[in-house]
Amino acid sequence: MGDRNLTLKWKGTSLELIDQRKLPFREEYLICRDAGSTARAIRDMVVRGAPAIGVAAAYGVTLAANQYTGDSKDEFLSLVRKGVHLLSKSRPTAVNLFWALSRMEKLLDKNIGESIDHIKQVLETEAKKIEQEDIETNKAIGRNGLIAIRGLAKNKLSVLTHCNAGALATAGYGTALGVIRSLHENHRIERVLVDETRPYLQGARLTSWELYQEGIPCTVITDNMAAFFMSRKEVNVVVVGADRVAKNGDSANKIGTLGLSVLARHYRIPFFIAAPVSTIDFDMHSGDQIPIEQRDGREVREVMGTRIIPDYIPVENPSFDVTSSKDITGIITEKGTIYPPYVENIAKLEQELV
Ligand code: MRU
Repeated sequence: MGDRNLTLKWKGTSLELIDQRKLPFREEYLICRDAGSTARAIRDMVVRGAPAIGVAAAYGVTLAANQYTGDSKDEFLSLVRKGVHLLSKSRPTAVNLFWALSRMEKLLDKNIGESIDHIKQVLETEAKKIEQEDIETNKAIGRNGLIAIRGLAKNKLSVLTHCNAGALATAGYGTALGVIRSLHENHRIERVLVDETRPYLQGARLTSWELYQEGIPCTVITDNMAAFFMSRKEVNVVVVGADRVAKNGDSANKIGTLGLSVLARHYRIPFFIAAPVSTIDFDMHSGDQIPIEQRDGREVREVMGTRIIPDYIPVENPSFDVTSSKDITGIITEKGTIYPPYVENIAKLEQELV
């Protein structure tokens, strides 16, 4: 399943998304036929994970374009731009969403003088390219992660991960799980400790499901057990994904990642972020500028539809937190692993990209 694209399937006039709210017990696909339904699917977590959101949004723009059957260029352009706007409002933290939308918009602007059919064609090709590139990128992250991590211990490694940064969170293979897949292919995995990741349970429901299907030994723990296993030297390395990395290396990821990074520092355990370069926000100087999504309190009040907290008790639901770059051993990207000093090394990478 690693590089089999089960997260999303492009069908030309529709986008099929595996409904991640229903996994692991039901494999159902939700069909999006326009930008609005794609934006809702992103907002409602049918599709989730930074790179997967970006790919879905690119197809959402394509759907907006392909839906138009008239012959007014102005109408067509305004429909596509409305689609881009709707998609941009779906979730605020993962920068890959805005990165993908900006790629689509740039192409729209570049081809503005062309025919409607030509623009439709160009947008669809670009969305497919974003999807294909993501799989290649993740495989490169996997290879670079192997180089960064395999030297840490002679024996097989016990790796702790949080949330789901796997095939389901990307177009295929995964970022943090791409690194774990690559370590496993090289016989370096003892087991993966999977944080359940309250409140949405991406670790318990999605990561364990992916790892099990790949035959990678894994054990689910509740989020409050990480310190226990670290204190008993049962964690050799922590590898997680990211939703947005600032220019100083501060990294936003699923709520709970910050706590893990502090624990890892305390127990002197290497802590790696695995993310594509498209997750680096070169306009953001530090992590405190990263917008943090506040999700519906019902996700905290309920566990899989069962109420555990009554309405009269207040709850909070910040969906992400920011790990300080000083607690990050390295940021594994498709271009190699970035090590401290992050400000200098991320600036160097930015220069290489222009
Ligand atoms: O709220 P989610 O499930 O979209 O959050 C996902 C994460 O935090 C992932 O770790 C991150 O997007 C990296 S995915 C390769």
